[in-house]
Amino acid sequence: MAGHTSDEFVNQVRAAVDIVDVVGEYVQLRKSGRAFLGLCPFHSEKSPSFNVNAERQFFHCFGCGAGGDVFSFLMKLEQLTFPEALHKLAERAGIDVPKPPQEEASPEKRAKQAMLEAHELVSKLYHYVLTETPYGVEAMKYLTKRGMSSQTLTEYQIGFAPDSWDFVTQFLKKRSFSQDLMVEAGLLAKSEAGKVFDRFRGRVMFPIHDSQGHVIGFGGRLLDNTGPRSSQPKYLNSPESLLFNKSATLFNLHRARSTMRKRKQALLFEGYVDVVSAWQAGFMQGVATLGTALTEQQARILRRNVESVVLCYDGDAAGQEATSKAIHVLQQAGLIVRVAPLPQGVDPDDYIRQHGAEAFSQQVLLQAMPVTAFRLKHLRSQYVINDETDKTRLIAKAVEIINELDSPVERDLYQRQLAEEYSLTLGDLKWESKRAYKQQKSERQRDKVSPAWNNSINNGKVTLAKTLPPAYHTAERKLLFYMMRNAELAFRVQQECNAHFQVDEHDALSAYLYAYYAEGNTEDPGKFIHYVQDESLKQLASGLAMMEYKEDVSDLEIGDYIKQVNNYPKRAELERLREEQRSLHLQAAAADSEDARKQLEIQAAIIGMKILELENALKEG
Ligand code: UTP
Ligand code: MN
Repeated sequence: MAGHTSDEFVNQVRAAVDIVDVVGEYVQLRKSGRAFLGLCPFHSEKSPSFNVNAERQFFHCFGCGAGGDVFSFLMKLEQLTFPEALHKLAERAGIDVPKPPQEEASPEKRAKQAMLEAHELVSKLYHYVLTETPYGVEAMKYLTKRGMSSQTLTEYQIGFAPDSWDFVTQFLKKRSFSQDLMVEAGLLAKSEAGKVFDRFRGRVMFPIHDSQGHVIGFGGRLLDNTGPRSSQPKYLNSPESLLFNKSATLFNLHRARSTMRKRKQALLFEGYVDVVSAWQAGFMQGVATLGTALTEQQARILRRNVESVVLCYDGDAAGQEATSKAIHVLQQAGLIVRVAPLPQGVDPDDYIRQHGAEAFSQQVLLQAMPVTAFRLKHLRSQYVINDETDKTRLIAKAVEIINELDSPVERDLYQRQLAEEYSLTLGDLKWESKRAYKQQKSERQRDKVSPAWNNSINNGKVTLAKTLPPAYHTAERKLLFYMMRNAELAFRVQQECNAHFQVDEHDALSAYLYAYYAEGNTEDPGKFIHYVQDESLKQLASGLAMMEYKEDVSDLEIGDYIKQVNNYPKRAELERLREEQRSLHLQAAAADSEDARKQLEIQAAIIGMKILELENALKEG
């Protein structure tokens, strides 16, 4: 590596940044002993197993095994190449990048760059049309009538796409953007005859940003959905593109993030206008999905930033259905969910305009219901009760919902409410609950397909393997741990170990260590992790470096570990011989002639002698 990724430069950057700060921008970390702990951004989990070590400057997740240094963290999270991550961190630390990369950017990267540029320009153009030209007057009136301040219009760069077939087409053409690329980006569209034209016409434009604040798409709302355009959808969104991945994007995230974190809470809305309206009223932690159901990825993004989410969906049947689905996705991601009660047929934007910010805070957000209360309410709205059978069915469903609560106190609370509401005795209800619970449990067990020990990660909780690893396994890990910290010790192991490490990955890592020190590198686990090329070995190394083994180790102890490694082949042979001997004895017992039996016993005796020899060798060695 030369020039802008020289070792010297890499080390300079490494020394200037703190991995805790960098990770802290993406993951909520809290100090725990000597490490920092948080929820892993690389897999879904409910309890934190993601460790950041400030002293040694690396991270490791005990849940999914991801690990490495500050560079690998950024590469993995932001999908960057090593030079990109290096430059980003250098910039952050205020270090000049020595030589800008000369090599050609890949075609895909160039396309992405052009798309980003076009989005940035076009969003400015739309905003300009809205605020400064006669074409925007009508839209401006509409937005003002909806209560949007000019400050809000500026902050959100809200714009207007004029009702023209080639306004944006010409604009982009003059700036030499490839038309096909702009079609791909969703700014333009192409007719079957191959004619290119403006995709958004006569619409109020809401720019959609990525988490870094770059415009990557638009949501365009029709000005009037009653006129000649009433056959068109109210909102037209940009299509998926190289830039725009709907299921991994949340509207307003880059603005809401800091407030979300401070409040440890996010508000989730259905519509762009709801988010904007809430922001204007002072609720700045709001985000929205992009016209699709909430995805697992979006929930995970939220979980990286907050602990709880208040769902503020519309108060109509569709909104309640969407709420039910979102609850599930959010809970799976480990979020605490509450549901804001909105009157039938009113969305958050309507509510704020009708009743103001104070009422929205007091009557809606602060009244947000726990999930169980919402589900019971939702259940009641779904059932029409005509007779006893309907009632019994509803109660059975309600009991099931209540039984899902872990806390007996909460269960009791809801059971009392239910008993009251349907004039049951609490005793009867509790008895019914118990019966249903047993049934639910046995159903769950039947549905379980894979045994728990098969997945190391089960429901986000790490289940420990039932069997301890064999002694040589531990010995190898301990050796590697100390070898990473002590070059001399690594040299000793290299000299004294005349057998390979038994675990292939351990063996590979030891080879890396020997090479690392042979090249004159010094003891530095962080640097070593970076040195290792292979991704899975990097993870193994960071996992090992995180182990809580004691720092001082005696020569004797190291000797024992080396012996474990050296003796492994003999032990394995011993195991094999014992097995063979057992088998011969069994065959002898089942032999059909005295001769055959004798033959087999003799063979077993010969093996017995070999076993004795090996046992002695092991004792002495
Ligand atoms: P709503 O119809 O509830 O819109 O759709 P809204 O946000 O309240 O907007 P106003 O108040 O009528 O202006 C909610 C969200 O669903 C998506 C959009 O993301 C919208 O913000 N949507 C809606 C579409 O993608 N297409 C549509 O045709 C309608
Ligand atoms: Mn609305």
